Amino acid sequence: MSDSLLVLIPARLLAGLYGSLRHVLQDVLVILWDNGLALYNLLTWDLPANAVVPKGCLGAGGVWPPYAPSTEGDSRCSCPALNAMANHGILPRSGRGITFRELNAKIRETYNFAPSFCFFVPNYAANMLCRDYWNDTFDLSDLDAHNCIEHDASLTREDCVDAKDQAKPSERLIEELLASGTGPHGDLTHADLSRMSGKRRTESKLKNGQFSLTTFHKIFGSSNSSTMLTVFGGKIKDLRPILLEERIPDGWQSRVRHRMGLTMAEFNKSALRVELGIREEVWGYPSSAQQKKKM
Ligand code: HEM
Repeated sequence: MSDSLLVLIPARLLAGLYGSLRHVLQDVLVILWDNGLALYNLLTWDLPANAVVPKGCLGAGGVWPPYAPSTEGDSRCSCPALNAMANHGILPRSGRGITFRELNAKIRETYNFAPSFCFFVPNYAANMLCRDYWNDTFDLSDLDAHNCIEHDASLTREDCVDAKDQAKPSERLIEELLASGTGPHGDLTHADLSRMSGKRRTESKLKNGQFSLTTFHKIFGSSNSSTMLTVFGGKIKDLRPILLEERIPDGWQSRVRHRMGLTMAEFNKSALRVELGIREEVWGYPSSAQQKKKM
């Protein structure tokens, strides 16, 4: 073995170990921070429903900047909430050159997520794209790298094998979702999201020859769909413009009224409830033969 390899190999091993330890330490610190924020929320009064967006921020008092759907050359992604921010100019209307730090600040102001979540998810996205959270930028469409965050069997997008452009909402799926609510006024509940996710997973598995969905993506899917219950309160009248037009309704403010916003601790409970309520995950997905028999 040459001298240079004797230096290179331990240096690579140490660099790898340092990188992993740094990530673990960062995650532990974010979880501790998040739990502290959850405790603070428990001990303080909620914000009034009409004053969730801080004064001086875009959307304060429910007055959102003008809506304009994306035009040719704009970048959009599979996330309706981020697209809506770009359609209102809260993020750059082009959807391009967004800093991860800007994403953090704007999600906090617009949807009232806790600062821990607003750091954790954009930082995760930066790592996923091999970029530096503190200095780099991204375009919204970069988030659609398949099986990074974007995955099969979502509630608002056809699988990418059928719809290469994941920025395009599926009217078929969204109308079916909006019609599935069994709560008061037909609003969505945890059970509805579990049922619809189970149905989507079954449908995708039967139809999509390239179907893939790891446990990690299942949890991610349930987390994304849980935002419909937490931030939008499951309200069909608000979800319709958000999901179909990617527009924030006039006068709308986040249903999360905690002073420190929606913590991961609280959010994960809702996401787990949706994920664990999916019957197909316990009783199995029907095979195509069983499915044909039913028809
Ligand atoms: C923090 C940065 C965020 C990133 C990087 C992100 C990314 C994504 C991605 C890649 C998807 C597509 C997943 C799929 O294939 O189904 C998605 C879906 C979604 N996201 Fe986001 N998102 C973020 C923040 C938010 C926020 C703040 C909300 C709510 C206010 C939200 C609500 C949703 C919803 C409702 C879906 C659709 C779920 C589905 O179709 O099943 N996201 N997000």
